[in-house]
Amino acid sequence: MGITRLRGFQDLIGTDADIVSRVEHSARTIAELHNFSEIRIPLLERIELYQRSSGETSDVVEKQMYAFSDRDEAETLVALRPEGTPGVVRAYIEGGLDRSDPEQRFYYSGPMFRRERPQKGRLRQFHQFGVEVFGRHDAVCDAELLIMIDELRRQLGLTLEFQINSLGDSLCRPAFRAALLRWGRENLNRLCGDCHERLEKNPLRLLDCKIDVKLTASAPTPRDYLCDACRRHFQVVEEALTASAIPYVVNPRLVRGLDYYTRTAFEVVSAAVGSQSAVVAGGRYDGLVEALGGAPVPGSGFAIGVERLALALHAAQSKTETPPAVVILAIGNTVVPQANSLASELRNENIRTDLLSPERGLKTLMRRADKSKAHYALIIGDNEVARGVVQVRDLRQSTQQEVPFEKVAQHMKENLANARSFPIDDPSTQDIVPTRQGGRLKKI
Ligand code: HAM
Repeated sequence: MGITRLRGFQDLIGTDADIVSRVEHSARTIAELHNFSEIRIPLLERIELYQRSSGETSDVVEKQMYAFSDRDEAETLVALRPEGTPGVVRAYIEGGLDRSDPEQRFYYSGPMFRRERPQKGRLRQFHQFGVEVFGRHDAVCDAELLIMIDELRRQLGLTLEFQINSLGDSLCRPAFRAALLRWGRENLNRLCGDCHERLEKNPLRLLDCKIDVKLTASAPTPRDYLCDACRRHFQVVEEALTASAIPYVVNPRLVRGLDYYTRTAFEVVSAAVGSQSAVVAGGRYDGLVEALGGAPVPGSGFAIGVERLALALHAAQSKTETPPAVVILAIGNTVVPQANSLASELRNENIRTDLLSPERGLKTLMRRADKSKAHYALIIGDNEVARGVVQVRDLRQSTQQEVPFEKVAQHMKENLANARSFPIDDPSTQDIVPTRQGGRLKKI
């Protein structure tokens, strides 16, 4: 056995790479239209950066970091970045922007590393496309982030659900936290093992429990404790989404796995990607710049899980994938010029045409034609070229006729126009379409 890739790490080849590039390209275009500029930050940072931002008790920091001691004299502890936000905030402060020019809009794109249990949509190396806005207190800024995600969603032709919540701020959060702790202690012997741990370390995550769902439904939520300013902020986000005709649901139990969020928090989920359904997530983090040693500048942002969004795109495309209307079967290399000219003629008539790679064996070509789900196969061999004809086979009705070469394009145009009024997958028309007779092809 040769050397294989590590668990949770992926090779992206051909169309898989294309689809990821497409997501990144669309996201970049939208970010630039919204006047964001690019920031590139290191893959490796001091571990302390994540401990002080993502949160020491967050799963990401506690269990999932690729961390090790650098081989310098001080044996600096470093970690591969599990997310982009802390590095961007560090770079923003280190570049002095928090004091000299606080209002900034950045986007970034690249690999992140989390040592999670791999499953569909959950990788150990994955890619994020993220944006961060600094210096904006207003709710309109949070709404703009959701509008950007909706623009991306529409550009990619996806159906996604927007879930939003408010987590309150440093004024109202303590009252909520105390109420949640009280509730947790009162229900201690009904909580699962993980929730016992959460209660001690990170009580907000109690709301996130996938085991005690029924029980946590009775727990207090942040929205019950919002102060007037937070309540107004959230209302403006909601109004802006409604004005932009973006459907959303308020999920009062939405809490994020990272510690820095304040006020608006959101997740955008896809029903097409399995249990790891959050394809984009983010929110406001007003205290983070200051907590990392910068000026008291507010922040807000999101990150797209590129592979997860690509999965959603893949699922959407395979449902709507259009097969070619016609496949051309060139029997042997000698007839390729005629096959090519026929393909161009059909494409000029807007007929979706695929030219299969030439083969001597008709059987192999026919198998590939069937697999392509095309409506017609056009078969050209030496014999057809000598006589100036093409065998036109209706793959759905298993009928075949000979058509003069110069009349094929017109013939296909007429037949496909008729065929379109009898969609084969529509059960109401199925009895009009004769079933396959399995007729053997005569050797040409
Ligand atoms: P996050 O929710 O940890 O937030 O990650 C954002 C997105 O990255 C998730 O919604 C998901 O699509 C993707 N993701 C996370 N972990 C994995 C994984 N193991 N495999 C595949 N995809 C994954 C953040 O990282 C914040 N920094 C987002 C943010 C930016 N908040 C404000 N600004």
